Amino acid sequence: MINKNGKQWFDTNGNPIQAHGGMILKHDIRYYWYGENKNANNTISSIGGRKVDFIGISCYSSNNLKDWCYEGLVLEASNDRSDSLYKDKIIERPKVIFSEKTKEFVLWFHYDYDDYLYAACGVATSKSPTGPFKVQKIFKPNRKDSRDFTIFKDAEKAYLIHSSDFNKTTYISELNETYTDVTGLYTKALVDQEREAPTMFKNQNMYFMITSGTTGWDANAALYSRSPFLFSPHKLIDNPCEGPNYRQTFYGQPSYVLEVEEQFYLMLDHWVPENLQKSGYSILPIDIIGNKKRDLRINWTDSPFGGKY
Ligand code: DGJ
Repeated sequence: MINKNGKQWFDTNGNPIQAHGGMILKHDIRYYWYGENKNANNTISSIGGRKVDFIGISCYSSNNLKDWCYEGLVLEASNDRSDSLYKDKIIERPKVIFSEKTKEFVLWFHYDYDDYLYAACGVATSKSPTGPFKVQKIFKPNRKDSRDFTIFKDAEKAYLIHSSDFNKTTYISELNETYTDVTGLYTKALVDQEREAPTMFKNQNMYFMITSGTTGWDANAALYSRSPFLFSPHKLIDNPCEGPNYRQTFYGQPSYVLEVEEQFYLMLDHWVPENLQKSGYSILPIDIIGNKKRDLRINWTDSPFGGKY
């Protein structure tokens, strides 16, 4: 199956890949793609927003980053109204990290009510990358609201990078040794910049974040920031995208940055607001041009990974 950037992608059974707002984790010699399963028609939320009732978090696996085999739902919605995973909940942007200390996979997700006012994090764990994951806690990190987020590992330490203060400020919060909680140490990275969809990576001695603006399911201009120190304010630089539709991030929104063979790639969701289950993906190479004031460049290519995989 040949998948094209910006379109719906298909798995090895020919079914649409349902892994939105997701990420790709490498473990041993296999890649695991986790994301939101939105395989149902839109419904309207209590505040008039477009949503798909929670179905679960999907996992797909691959050994070549091209052929994705569906591994099922690693976290599933409940039909029990009293359950925290009841299908009326919002569960978005799943990110999985492996803990060498506990030998467990730790799944973080944005947990919310359908008006997005609860704004919490969920943490679930599993001994296997393909689940099932068991919810350990749902909480507000450092008693702060948390909506879009990513998890970033820097050597053995890991951090929660999250949109907080009603999406006004992006915080970086240190995780504990088992990656299942925050330690209480946090800093403000992008103050009053109203950024969503944070992604983070480190190249040589510089930390980069690529984020979106806050326009719901509609595309807006990505911006990148950088800092030589992770735990400090980050400086906004520019839009990393170039060429046609660069101001709309090619009609995509960041979900994750992954590194494969010393090359960084930006994963984008291409939301279809009127029918979210049809949303597409792209995975675009990030060019890093040293010694330039504007050192990140992302160009459109129809082929995932720029055709490399
Ligand atoms: C933008 C966020 O980035 C998405 O994950 C989702 O929460 C939408 N907002 C909902 O409008």
